[in-house]
Amino acid sequence: MSEKLWGTGIDEAAYLEECCFRKPWGSSFLASLADNKFMRLRGTYDAESGELMGYCCYSVIFEDCELMRICTQPRFRRKGVAAGLLDDLIADARASGCDRIFLEVRKSNRGAISLYESRGFAYSYTRYNYYENGEDALVYQLSLKGDA
Ligand SMILES: CC(C)(COP(=O)(O)OP(=O)(O)OC[C@H]1O[C@@H](n2cnc3c(N)ncnc32)[C@H](O)[C@@H]1OP(=O)(O)O)[C@@H](O)C(=O)NCCC(=O)NCCS
Repeated sequence: MSEKLWGTGIDEAAYLEECCFRKPWGSSFLASLADNKFMRLRGTYDAESGELMGYCCYSVIFEDCELMRICTQPRFRRKGVAAGLLDDLIADARASGCDRIFLEVRKSNRGAISLYESRGFAYSYTRYNYYENGEDALVYQLSLKGDA
């Protein structure tokens, strides 16, 4: 089960960023996001070690939820951490009255694409030449309309 990140949790998320991304977001940027009323940061801790295993960052702006970041520390991968974070995000977006959740992902990021598809996200369209290296972004969406 994930929880809202604050305080030292923000520094722990910055550490995960360094382990997982080529251009990591730093602590002060993450802290500014945590202070933004439209942004939410959630993480999941290992019950034994107390380590932050994974975290996600997303916006909730009226009817739209957008996943900005999700990552799992390498040694905790393929254990359902990111899937659990996404399940909690989906429940939060639904409870917040969102109509849809969307995200963009590098075309080459097969692992993340499999993760999103496993949670019901569907390919919507391509943003060509989106990333700095010329790679395309795929936009995926999950509609929450008509959900109970
Ligand atoms: C993508 C990422 C978040 C997945 O985290 P994770 O905690 O290992 O994912 P889960 O264990 O919850 O995986 C759930 C399902 O997603 C799919 N999946 C996850 N990683 C996968 C991979 N590398 N290859 C293929 N399928 C994958 C599988 O269907 C998996 O279920 P299974 O293990 O029963 O087959 C993780 O690899 C990561 O941090 N990558 C670097 C950061 C990144 O690219 N983030 C996404 C863009 S912001």
